[in-house]
Amino acid sequence: MITSILNNREVSSALPPGTPVLDFVRYNQYLTGTKIGCREGDCGACTVLVGEVSTGELRYRTATSCLMPLGNAHGKHIVTIEGLNMAELNPIQQAMADESATQCGFCTPGFVVSMAGFCLSKKAPTSQNAIAAVDGNICRCTGYKSIKRAAARVAQLLADRREEAPVNFAANQAILPAYFSTIAERLQALSLNLNGERTNDNPAAQRVGGGTDVYVQKHDEIRDASIRFLFDTPDLNGIRQVGDQCLMGASTTVTDLIESPVMQAHFPDFNQYTTLISSTPIRNMATIGGNFINASPIGDFTVFFLALDATLTFRAGRTVRDLPLRDLYQGYKTLDKHPDELLEQIRFTLPDRNTRFNFEKVSKRTHLDIASVNSAMSITIEDDVITTVRLSAGGVAPIPKQLTKTAAYLTGKRLTEALILEATRIAQTEITPISDARGSETYKRLLLSQLIKAHFIKLFPELKAAQLLTV
Ligand SMILES: Cc1cc2nc3c(=O)[nH]c(=O)nc-3n(C[C@H](O)[C@H](O)[C@H](O)COP(=O)(O)OP(=O)(O)OC[C@H]3O[C@@H](n4cnc5c(N)ncnc54)[C@H](O)[C@@H]3O)c2cc1C
Ligand code: FES
Ligand code: FES
Repeated sequence: MITSILNNREVSSALPPGTPVLDFVRYNQYLTGTKIGCREGDCGACTVLVGEVSTGELRYRTATSCLMPLGNAHGKHIVTIEGLNMAELNPIQQAMADESATQCGFCTPGFVVSMAGFCLSKKAPTSQNAIAAVDGNICRCTGYKSIKRAAARVAQLLADRREEAPVNFAANQAILPAYFSTIAERLQALSLNLNGERTNDNPAAQRVGGGTDVYVQKHDEIRDASIRFLFDTPDLNGIRQVGDQCLMGASTTVTDLIESPVMQAHFPDFNQYTTLISSTPIRNMATIGGNFINASPIGDFTVFFLALDATLTFRAGRTVRDLPLRDLYQGYKTLDKHPDELLEQIRFTLPDRNTRFNFEKVSKRTHLDIASVNSAMSITIEDDVITTVRLSAGGVAPIPKQLTKTAAYLTGKRLTEALILEATRIAQTEITPISDARGSETYKRLLLSQLIKAHFIKLFPELKAAQLLTV
């Protein structure tokens, strides 16, 4: 049985744990306010809130319920639009109505749930953050101006929050229903009675992290599949620093990384990079392990961690093996990995004070879009000489690649404009892009050259880069 608190009541379900939460709430619980649009995580019509007690605190994140397995709801608080309703319109719904931010209304529950997620988050109550919270929601008829005005009004509701916990503030100020203030205690009581629904010893079981790739690719068969759920496995979670190493569990989500003090200290622009990657609800669900094992040639985190030369730890029973991420990919979606092996941990050296890091991505849309070409670079310079450089690129070969020849050319040299231009030429010899929906071969070649230049322009503003900007 999967047991959770759904809105204001505890529910247990004997449905297959692979059932999407969307189908559970609509067809089993008859909560039809949650809409079905794309079923691919793209439109946000199915957005729900997922609450759990994490490090002693009740925390809410949004999720696209079309891609979320019921198994990942076990022991959590799932909130649909019905669970946000109050006697009158709640202040978020009122803001949407006052700003004429709804017409057909199909997208509106998703927008309201995402804005409620913003109210329950620790993000600073600015209009900019409120608007960013709806980056995973698409509206086809109202137009975004009015929705942005409504979001700005929602941010104003939080102006006096100061140090109060977001959940308490939202419940006390009647922004959200009062029952929210009872949830932390109810979830803790529930956790004492949970049984091990998420364990599965079947070696052939489909592994599922956040489900954001599996549920798109295997939509028809996944519901009834034998699944091993990895998202909440304690051994696969957590980010910590040991000396100059960062160790993180394979089920670390993108949002976990954004909120990690270790990442914030060593990658000050990390939040900025991630705004280019998917959307808030997908980042809440997407795991780094899932990104690596999905093996997309344009996986953003694969490219990011290739430039950090990350090492992976795989486990099959008692057998543990380390493998550099750069050696994982052998051909298109072909991995140096036995089907039994579970990716357990990711390890990489944190940048020191001589090391600079940058990530770049170009895609057709800013949000919810995969890259045409992406690239990352980690470069260490001591006494004006490049001592180590790792450059990665996605979208330019059947696999995400480390550009080793280009890196070898740069190593041991002084940084000059001419050196960078020659590096872009060498990089062209290492790639084999193909023309597809994300751009022609020629365009992707040009993009990679430009992204390499962008790394240097951003990381070395002191370099007189006039030629790079024009060539
Ligand atoms: C709307 C949308 C937008 C997206 N945008 C982007 C984007 O901008 N950039 C990007 O890179 N990706 C994007 N993605 C793809 C996806 O979100 C990422 O690849 C994500 O990191 C996958 O993680 P997951 O936990 O959801 O993987 P899952 O779907 O759970 O799993 C993916 C694969 O990894 C395997 N797996 C997962 N964990 C382990 C483990 N610990 N050990 C062994 N195998 C494991 C699974 O069996 C499966 O084969 C997007 C997806 C959607 C739906
Ligand atoms: S139905 Fe479109 S994101 Fe879920
Ligand atoms: S109001 Fe119709 S899709 Fe947004």
